[in-house]
Amino acid sequence: ADVFTYDPGFTSTAACESAITYIDGDLGELLYRGYPIEQLAEKSSHVEVCYLLMYGELPTAAQLSDFTQRITRHTMVHEQMHNFFRGFRRDSHPMATMVGVVGAMSAFYHDSLDINDPWHREVASIRMIAKLPTIAAMAYKYSIGQPFVYPKNALSYAGNFLNMCFAVPTEEYVVSPVLEKAMDRIMMLHADHEQNASTSTVRLAGSSGANPFACIAAGIACLWGPAHGGANQACLEMLRQIGSVERIPEFIARAKDKNDPFRLMGFGHRVYKNFDPRARVMKESADEVLGLLGIENNETLQVAKELEKIALEDEYFVSKKLYPNVDFYSGIILEAMGFPTSMFTPIFAISRTIGWISQWKEMISDPAGKIGRPRQLYIGPEKRDYVDLRNR
Ligand code: CMC
Repeated sequence: ADVFTYDPGFTSTAACESAITYIDGDLGELLYRGYPIEQLAEKSSHVEVCYLLMYGELPTAAQLSDFTQRITRHTMVHEQMHNFFRGFRRDSHPMATMVGVVGAMSAFYHDSLDINDPWHREVASIRMIAKLPTIAAMAYKYSIGQPFVYPKNALSYAGNFLNMCFAVPTEEYVVSPVLEKAMDRIMMLHADHEQNASTSTVRLAGSSGANPFACIAAGIACLWGPAHGGANQACLEMLRQIGSVERIPEFIARAKDKNDPFRLMGFGHRVYKNFDPRARVMKESADEVLGLLGIENNETLQVAKELEKIALEDEYFVSKKLYPNVDFYSGIILEAMGFPTSMFTPIFAISRTIGWISQWKEMISDPAGKIGRPRQLYIGPEKRDYVDLRNR
């Protein structure tokens, strides 16, 4: 019989070669195409990071302007998609709506489905970078019963998204530069993270030759889980549930209890065995945003900081090398911006779209590429004969 390596959770299996993102989990280092995440978060913009991830190099001014125009040309969704949105229940989670609508893009954009045509691949990629913010904002507006807001291409990528979420036809809405910058930074910090569960899902789906919209919809579905992108929503809900600094020890004790399924959301990572570098930037950003909004005494932020402090000194968390991850502080910023928790994971999905697309494109053009097809160790019954119903 064949012998296979058993590696549940793929903790020691490399499934591909990739030139996009590098993580050193022991040092707590993250590089996009060689550039440290801290430098990008400080100096770059999400659209520039999209270009970098997709094409491998930072753009020149002319390339960036051309790329930006190619994206803004595609920010609107097909008008008929509005009808599709209206088929969902109003109280649908925006992630549920997004999985459906992004999957349905393959029913609307027939000129970008041929994965063997480089032009189709390019157009599909640009369409998704451009339309995911529109789709997420529409899912939100629909869920609160407000009219959809069309994209405004004079605004930045992040600014346009905030406008589509918070503008209403009855009043003037001006995007705050502080929130715009913070949103852009959240997007950059989430843009790619090598072979995480949703990216691996996109690659696996893509390995069968499935169309790019179907693959990204699969990635969104995977991201929704609380162990992955759903952690930002789960983390803020946990911080609210803890409610006050005095109750932290009770929750720390629960997280350590083997018989209690409770985990500290926003803590721990498969690869980082040191501080998640994204969490550091996110923490600074949370301080900055709440300070500028004049709400630095926010109770949730106080609970988060104290929880982090206690956990980082606790033997259980120290010995298991559990540190805050990117999702620990992002929810606090998003809440301060006015987003409900149900929008946290959709914002992660918008941000990760570029990572999924870049990895999908890399996979399609990899000459070593094959359909992903893991094997198994069979532990079921041995061969046996069928028993007639009357004899069972
Ligand atoms: N709270 C308490 N204990 C934990 C936690 C936690 N958050 N995370 C891991 N542990 C313990 C776990 O019980 C296990 O203990 P033992 O060895 O005694 O059985 C040990 O640490 C190793 O955990 P694991 O589940 O085997 O590790 P993993 O690499 O499979 O899981 C993880 C990584 C991120 C799924 C996990 O740490 C977790 O569930 N964290 C909470 C959810 C979360 O914040 N996810 C966001 C991840 S970063 C952004 C993203 O990917 O979307």
